[in-house]
Amino acid sequence: MIDLPVMQFPVEKLINTARASRERAYAPYSGFRVGAAILTREGRLYSGCNIENASYSLTVCAERVAIYKAVSNGERQFAALAVIADSDDYCTPCGACRQVLAEFGREIKVYMCNRHGEYIVKDLSALLPLGFTLKKQDMGIEGGPGSGPVRVAEPVDR
Ligand code: THU
Repeated sequence: MIDLPVMQFPVEKLINTARASRERAYAPYSGFRVGAAILTREGRLYSGCNIENASYSLTVCAERVAIYKAVSNGERQFAALAVIADSDDYCTPCGACRQVLAEFGREIKVYMCNRHGEYIVKDLSALLPLGFTLKKQDMGIEGGPGSGPVRVAEPVDR
């Protein structure tokens, strides 16, 4: 594996990929167009844009589209993610996207950009302190606390 330190990768290329993807955003409900790009540790880039839906809660953020595209192409090792909207404010990823990204490493650098391509950058661990993780012993599999017989509670009259 190449394991490219993110410093050796042109950050402008990561941000430009996110910006180009923003052009493909499908955001007829909010009008808030977002683009994202994720860089693998071997130097490959995957882009994403937000995709909204008439059933609002089915909307998917640009970051998750990029992550899911990458993972479904066999990627697991990531160095950095960029996110950009058409706003003067830095675009910061929502909590759900932070949690999804955390699945693949807490050292991933997150570039949060404004419309001018200026950015603030933070490690995911700083953006998601105490993020949820699932350990084998916590799962309902052999020997774990959730693996015993189901305890049926008394019915509660509310
Ligand atoms: N959105 C993203 O794609 N990424 C973010 O980081 C913040 C929010 C999208 C979801 C929705 O389509 C629109 O922006 C407004 O919330």
